[in-house]
Amino acid sequence: MATRLFEGRDHAAVYQRYRFSPQENLQRVIVSYLEKKKVNSFHLAVDVGCGTGQSSHLLAKHFEKVVGTDISKAQIEEAKQATHPPNVSYLVCPAEELPFEDRSVDLLTAFTAAHWFDIPRFMNEVDRLLKPSGCVALSTSTLDMRLHYKDRSEKLTGIIKEIKDQIFTYAHEKVKRVANDYKEIFDSLPLQDKERITDILDHVPMSVADLMGYIQSFSPYQIFLKAQPDAAKSLVQNAEQRILETMGVSSRDTQLELVTRQVCVLGYKSS
Ligand SMILES: C[S@@+](CC[C@H](N)C(=O)[O-])C[C@H]1O[C@@H](n2cnc3c(N)ncnc32)[C@H](O)[C@@H]1O
Repeated sequence: MATRLFEGRDHAAVYQRYRFSPQENLQRVIVSYLEKKKVNSFHLAVDVGCGTGQSSHLLAKHFEKVVGTDISKAQIEEAKQATHPPNVSYLVCPAEELPFEDRSVDLLTAFTAAHWFDIPRFMNEVDRLLKPSGCVALSTSTLDMRLHYKDRSEKLTGIIKEIKDQIFTYAHEKVKRVANDYKEIFDSLPLQDKERITDILDHVPMSVADLMGYIQSFSPYQIFLKAQPDAAKSLVQNAEQRILETMGVSSRDTQLELVTRQVCVLGYKSS
């Protein structure tokens, strides 16, 4: 059965505001893979579990047409309302029943989404939809996060780890697939030609306010918020206070850098 943790309109709004697009190094890994495989058809890319569309936008400059799909109506409504390139469109549908013809897709992606899917049914769709010489890229942000700010990086990283560990006690069991660096997803991909890259580090500059918003976009935080609203809100407030004190600043607009580790499973359909 589908896991429906991204249905709330408030969650979708937090998502649209604070989730960032796949960053430079992850993008480079995917583009280099297409080059390595000498992909020369760029008609259709499908971005499955696209959320509010940040990832779908990035594909727009490489493909004639990009379709972002998601099971959550609230996420797709946010995606449609946000400014997006003219060749990107959105559809509400499950990853396990994608409304595209057999062998019609040049690149199928899922960014921080595949762990939520019914893996065997989704993999059947990957196999059915990819054109010969088509590729798939299934990536995720891992639970490894570091914070960089002047000489306070170690202490800040310790704080964010502590907060994250508390929040992730509320994680759905499918998040184990992320903790295992998508090993299960890699093993289930029904293609001979495949690889898994686990050490993609991306550096994301952001303000303390954005960092707090990013944390609140995590599904375990949303579960915590529903179960214990006061405790969840005070966890975030205390975390922000500790981060500001450690940085020795008072403004939430102060910039720091988040370093995230991404994992990407790549596959090529030879025939
Ligand atoms: C963590 S968000 C990632 C969104 C976006 N790709 C990004 O990188 O910001 C995961 C998304 O997967 C969607 N999702 C979960 N299960 C799904 C399913 N079975 N079919 C389609 N989408 C699904 C959720 O609704 C949510 O929008």
